Amino acid sequence: MRTVEELLVNNRVWAATVTTQDPGFFQRLANQQTPSYLWIGCSDSRVPSTQLVGLPPGEMFVHRNVANIVAHTDFNCLAVLQYAVEVLHVQHIIVCGHYRCGGIHAALHGHHLGLIDNWLQHVQDVRRKHALRLAVCRDTATEEHLLCELNVIEQVVNVSQTTIVQQAWLRGQQLTVYGWIYDVEDGLLRDLQIRVSSLATLDVQYARAVALVS
Ligand code: CO
Repeated sequence: MRTVEELLVNNRVWAATVTTQDPGFFQRLANQQTPSYLWIGCSDSRVPSTQLVGLPPGEMFVHRNVANIVAHTDFNCLAVLQYAVEVLHVQHIIVCGHYRCGGIHAALHGHHLGLIDNWLQHVQDVRRKHALRLAVCRDTATEEHLLCELNVIEQVVNVSQTTIVQQAWLRGQQLTVYGWIYDVEDGLLRDLQIRVSSLATLDVQYARAVALVS
């Protein structure tokens, strides 16, 4: 494991490298950020949002929590969403889950980890909602895979149902919500085929995506 001092050295090297490649980079970014994307993903260290989509600093606003949950009572997530939509005017909101998610695993198997069990009740809600579908999976690995995907789709719905996103659509603001999933085994993202650009298309997009998942 690296020491924290090494991390600071790494930072010096990184900043010097970026400056060599683009001398005005940090000065330009210091004035303002104009990201087009909001990423809502898992806190998992193997899923570094900007890195895996090849975006430099300044291009993606990010919110991460355990199991990439969007809860209507979570002021942290709502504040990020409101700022991203109303102040930064992002056009794309990507909800990205990942396979082998510890949060999904714990929720599915009923593991008790402490305080976080309460947070993971949101995943339990998804599990319960799709219990019949999950019950016919041939093994627990497939079931976990499917719950990771269904959780993303449900969180896309939650984003779309916030007053923030609904008001944006009412104003005619261009805003699309996507559901993706990342595979930590091969580094690849998969589009879960849900993209919601208006309240009118939400139900159809949701039904289609749920029917398409593995
Ligand atoms: Co995770």
